[in-house]
Amino acid sequence: LLKRSVVSAAKSPAQTRCISSSSSPRRKVAVLGAAGGIGQPLGLLMKLNPLVTDLSLYDIAGTPGVAADISHVDTTATVEGFAGEADLAKALKGCDLVIIPAGVPRKPGMTRDDLFKINAGIVKGLCTAIAEHCPGALVNMISNPVNSTVPIAAEVFKLHGTYDSRKLFGVTTLDVVRARTFYSVLKGLPVREVNVPVVGGHAGITILPLFSQASPKVQLTDEEIEALTKRTQDGGTEVVQAKAGKGSATLSMAYAGALFAEACLKGLNGVENIQCSYVASDITNLPFFSSKVRLGRNGVEEVLDLGSLSDYEQKGLEALKEELQSSIQKGLDFVKPQH
Ligand code: NAI
Repeated sequence: LLKRSVVSAAKSPAQTRCISSSSSPRRKVAVLGAAGGIGQPLGLLMKLNPLVTDLSLYDIAGTPGVAADISHVDTTATVEGFAGEADLAKALKGCDLVIIPAGVPRKPGMTRDDLFKINAGIVKGLCTAIAEHCPGALVNMISNPVNSTVPIAAEVFKLHGTYDSRKLFGVTTLDVVRARTFYSVLKGLPVREVNVPVVGGHAGITILPLFSQASPKVQLTDEEIEALTKRTQDGGTEVVQAKAGKGSATLSMAYAGALFAEACLKGLNGVENIQCSYVASDITNLPFFSSKVRLGRNGVEEVLDLGSLSDYEQKGLEALKEELQSSIQKGLDFVKPQH
């Protein structure tokens, strides 16, 4: 049995190459911050994805080594590493999708908002380069605080006349992944069949998992709902504390980032699918909001409404609006203080 599985594993890259070259278009994906805790495993996961034909790994330093290492993996994508700002244009040219996990992560005692000062500047610089070198690319923003970095990106693109709200995404997939995991473990459900929409934003109480809409549907007590909600909201802090000063979620984030990037690439290739993401939105009175969106050839084809909420979720929704609004405003003001 072992022998057979080794043989079939050995065959799969060649088969993958075949399928990808015959039926999928070329897709260039860049990871900015590729030498970091998230960037490295995310780069590896993108190299494993048959929808990626060209992988561009950019960081301020360290990327030649990461790229050389990942390039030896026997899957389709070509891999190039770029280090330092002088190389950023080359890293971005021709990209269909740019994933941004660049910036500093949280340490114990810090909130995502504490990262604002450093990461806002990094994101502004990288988005300026995207506007110049690959203005049509989809952008997956991972750098925190996502509630503010997405509005920053939008303002930078507007300044350059390249803003297309359908192409800018805050990656909240880790919240969905956590909600799915915690729900399935608590209720003994097969996790592959579980889905839980998570709406709002991507920090503390702005993360609002909708367990009333979870599938498969099972009975939850009020206490269970509250515990699951809190654990999903505090999932990032759980990891920050366990890593005790050595950073925040990197491996589960790379996994979640790879899932979301794949969903975007599928959409670009005409395979529509529904994911939760933090996008420009008019389903509430906030200009950016995370909810289910339909991904397609142009990025966001449709922002889906919230559906029916339980009383508990309705209260959570009202409670998150003020914080989310102020994080959005902080991002807008960073680029254009007169807002
Ligand atoms: P890290 O410090 O390990 O890596 C960050 C990388 O960004 C470093 O390699 C650094 O050299 C690079 N970098 C800094 N300035 C840059 C620039 N101007 N251009 C390109 N690269 C630059 O941090 P880690 O753990 O990988 O986290 C990265 C970001 O992702 C943080 O902001 C963190 O808060 C965020 N994050 C987001 C999550 C989400 O769910 N959206 C979950 C976990 C983390």
